[in-house]
Amino acid sequence: MCGILGYLGNKNGVPLVHEGLKALSYRGYDSWGIAAIRGKETIIQKEVGDISKCAPMDAHSPIVIGHTRWATHGGVTDNNAHPHTNNDGTISVVHNGIIENYHLLKEALLEEGYTFTSETDTEVIPHLIDFYMKRGKTFKDAFARTLKDLKGSYAILAMHALEGIHFARNGSPLILGIGDNEMFVSSDIPSFLPHTKRIITLEDGDYGSLTPLAITNKGKPVKREESLAHWDLEVAKKGTYEHFMLKEIEEQPLTIRKALNQPCELIVKATQLMDTSTIIFVGCGTSYNACSIALTHFVHAGKQAMTVLGSEFESVLPYINNKTLLIAVSQSGETADVIDSIKSAQKKGAKVISIVNSPSSTIARLADLTIPMNCGPELCVLSTKSCTSQIAILMMLAFALQKKDIGLLKEAADTALHVIKQTKPQMQQLARKIANERSMFVIGRKSLAHVAREAALKIKEVSYIHAEGMPAGELKHGTIAVVCDGLPVIVFADNQTRAHTTSNAMEVKARGAFVIGIDSKPSHAYDYHISIPDIEEATPLIALLPVQLLSYYLALERKCDPDKPRNLAKSVTVR
Ligand code: F6R
Repeated sequence: MCGILGYLGNKNGVPLVHEGLKALSYRGYDSWGIAAIRGKETIIQKEVGDISKCAPMDAHSPIVIGHTRWATHGGVTDNNAHPHTNNDGTISVVHNGIIENYHLLKEALLEEGYTFTSETDTEVIPHLIDFYMKRGKTFKDAFARTLKDLKGSYAILAMHALEGIHFARNGSPLILGIGDNEMFVSSDIPSFLPHTKRIITLEDGDYGSLTPLAITNKGKPVKREESLAHWDLEVAKKGTYEHFMLKEIEEQPLTIRKALNQPCELIVKATQLMDTSTIIFVGCGTSYNACSIALTHFVHAGKQAMTVLGSEFESVLPYINNKTLLIAVSQSGETADVIDSIKSAQKKGAKVISIVNSPSSTIARLADLTIPMNCGPELCVLSTKSCTSQIAILMMLAFALQKKDIGLLKEAADTALHVIKQTKPQMQQLARKIANERSMFVIGRKSLAHVAREAALKIKEVSYIHAEGMPAGELKHGTIAVVCDGLPVIVFADNQTRAHTTSNAMEVKARGAFVIGIDSKPSHAYDYHISIPDIEEATPLIALLPVQLLSYYLALERKCDPDKPRNLAKSVTVR
């Protein structure tokens, strides 16, 4: 969470960093800030709110750092916005991560006479660098010495008028972009993609300076391989769409196909790894839901398999041994809870397959084998196309175990196009009808129970309407007490589950609920019917699409920003 970006070159870095921060704002958008070197002076612009609504300061500088914030320590205020500086303003710092021992460091610095202007953990960093410089160290050495004092996770950029930009990575992503006579250093590639595709992914423990480029790890100079970013710049733009969310929803017929288009050898290797006694799927949020949706296919393939949330992974640690395969699913590849799970499973001898959208991410680099999702940058904070890519890949793996043809899954990609086209106007109309509701429920059985959970997550995170997804059969065990006149209940049913699910739908209808059925067949239980084809086991892949659209239109009706819901960030790098 939080995005950082540094520029050092021969152009004016101020508008360039401002533009790059917009591409990073999916990582946090509570506030933003830029520091630029002008002569011997550092000038700073900081603002609360959305960077895309603000112009950059009118300044010219070839050395600039910037930050877009998701608040952890301290409220959303100008003072807490990064960059933070030392007391004379000569050193400025942006930081992504958490300095866990900042209280102790702050106390010591206060005793030394340093004054603090923010409530952040970050502000200790420029003061510490200053502290060591005042004791005779160069900026470079003072920066390296400061890193030794910090406990926690970080990606840091520190800037000094005479020394340029220094960087450090430990547990939060940091990537160098190498241009012609210019260098970038950033949390993610899209921030500098218009300028260069040449990248170097830094490793944990790396620190160094941008010019001349020098990377050190454990006190020794290291060389990191350069590679080419495979992001497509056009995919990272909205084009004719008003929001990334709708664009990404509509990309799914193509992205499902791309997810399924994996080299044969990769799937063979994955199948060999799956030949272990137990498979544990780990993910968070939508990625966890994708695992749960696919789980039943592995069970039917005869595997002992279970899903676990990254944040709850410790509870299954006793089961893990060298016969366990962990399948770690994450769009960003940087989710801290999943990274922790992988590291603790690896300590117990488990092998790891990762399914990620960014092959240069931490999770991909930790894994024994990575299956790329290939869905291109997902810039809306909500996961939409990444979710169906994850489900498609997981189902393909389960089909590979059973030596089943994946024709059905490919068919889902074609059907997705039809479903989006057919249901879009209906979802717009339904959103208008239910936009003022305060609460709703989403139910289904088997895989569709997990589709219901994912659907509820989409509705609540983008429209702020309370929504609860659950197995249809569970309603009668308590939740039905909440059902009242007019309460919207979305019901997912297919040929396998319809009989029992529509009975549950009738039970809520009898208590006044407004029942919305997403089903290939109409039913007298449905007050509102959304027809989608039944494509057997692949139905969950397309069932999600109408609710993604509904969530989008609910957000518009309620004047919420679909791409940047409040309080959220795309890459969750805190525990
Ligand atoms: C929901 C959403 C989140 C993420 C979760 C995991 O729309 O985006 O729930 O799915 O934070 O993120 P990744 O997949 O990057 O590990």
